[in-house]
Amino acid sequence: MDGEYGFGQELSFPRDFVWGAATAAFQIEGATKEDGRGPSIWDTFAAIPGNVLDNDNGDFACDHFHRSGEDVDLMDRLGIPHYRFSLSWSRVQPDGKTVEPRGLAFYDRLADRLAERGIVPIATMYHWDLPQVLQDDGGWPNRDTVARFADYADMVFDRLSDRVRHWVTINEPFCSAFFGYGNGMHAPGISDHRAALRAAHHLLLAHGTALRRLREKAGSSHKFGIALNFAPAVIEAADEGYRQAARKFDCLQNRFFLDAVMGRGYPAESLADVAHLDALQPAVADGDLETIAAPLDWLGINYYAPCRPAPLAEAKWACDLPGLDSVGMLPGAEPLTSMGWEQAPDRLTQLLLWLTEYCEGLPLIVAENGAAFPDTVGPCGHVHDPQRVRYYVEHLTAVHQAIERGAKVEGYLAWSLLDNFEWAMGYSQRFGVVHVDFETQERRIKDSGWLLAQAIRTNAVPN
Ligand code: NOJ
Repeated sequence: MDGEYGFGQELSFPRDFVWGAATAAFQIEGATKEDGRGPSIWDTFAAIPGNVLDNDNGDFACDHFHRSGEDVDLMDRLGIPHYRFSLSWSRVQPDGKTVEPRGLAFYDRLADRLAERGIVPIATMYHWDLPQVLQDDGGWPNRDTVARFADYADMVFDRLSDRVRHWVTINEPFCSAFFGYGNGMHAPGISDHRAALRAAHHLLLAHGTALRRLREKAGSSHKFGIALNFAPAVIEAADEGYRQAARKFDCLQNRFFLDAVMGRGYPAESLADVAHLDALQPAVADGDLETIAAPLDWLGINYYAPCRPAPLAEAKWACDLPGLDSVGMLPGAEPLTSMGWEQAPDRLTQLLLWLTEYCEGLPLIVAENGAAFPDTVGPCGHVHDPQRVRYYVEHLTAVHQAIERGAKVEGYLAWSLLDNFEWAMGYSQRFGVVHVDFETQERRIKDSGWLLAQAIRTNAVPN
């Protein structure tokens, strides 16, 4: 896209609004065996045929490990002022405890490059890629992993905190716990609802333990958050069965992690329905809930789409999540993204308004929002992605509306900077505002990339 969008009325964002784009280590770095990196659970999981679509893996991904300079240049070209990336634990501590200086040096160089371009880093400490050795010792269902994480967090903080002031402890613990250990769709591929509940608790405890330690060191000079994924429940039909399915789903999906970090404990409503409550209770030691409730500077909101829960007998597929044995799911309303996800910007407005109230004014940052569509490179090398452009315009408008109506939203990070390894869907799903040719590693800025650039430059929704 060469021109600017329209000349209609501008919907401006507040001054100092935090604009940016996000990625995660395993999804973009590749170089999985270089400079002493050890295997993570995603290397192991992807190596087993059938786990990932087309048996794709993260061996090369976007080759960002070798191209981080080029990728920082790209951000600079787009005027992206904040970059959210994650650190690969198994690159900096291949055995889960000993520092690999060469791995750490990669993030050092990245932080330096970002600083040279004036791009503000937001570093996520854990985005799903547990070192395999720690999984061999039991992984997240094992309480020892909490201490390992806190030590790792401490170490990377010491090394990078002179340049990195914004930190996300853990990204979407819901997916790590419930897809990784609950229904086995993600690494490490375990299907055990009881283990999933313990993993959920330990992920939260890891967040809280690390946060308390780092806060003690950093005082108020550094800002800490956690990124939680939200999928508001659409109540498909007015009868009690649907209402109950929505309520149960909402408790697990949207409140289990949120309530705990907000100091409300685990939502009693959902736990009353959890068949395996006896698996969670013994894991919760005295003081854990207080640790988990360590004060946050902001809450990261990852939002893509709502869900349509239904009584299992009337659903298209089962949820297969702890406590949701009687709940299933119906497909979203058209038009869907290529992930099969509904596009519902109004739900984002509602979510941000609800969270502002529920979290009593805690600053919110949309830490991920975006969409996958089947992009193609045109004859002149352009990637026109009108559906993604529309998705961004609609969702930015939704964020703007939420702010107008009083929501405390302080930033918006697009997912993702680059097309990348979309977990169990491999490279089949393109979320980038920059197209990646996975054969040649050529990057091409999509129309949506220029749209984001315009939004950033004008601090407004392009119209
Ligand atoms: C959330 C995850 O944090 C990210 O890794 C993933 O690619 C996007 N959702 C899209 O599914």
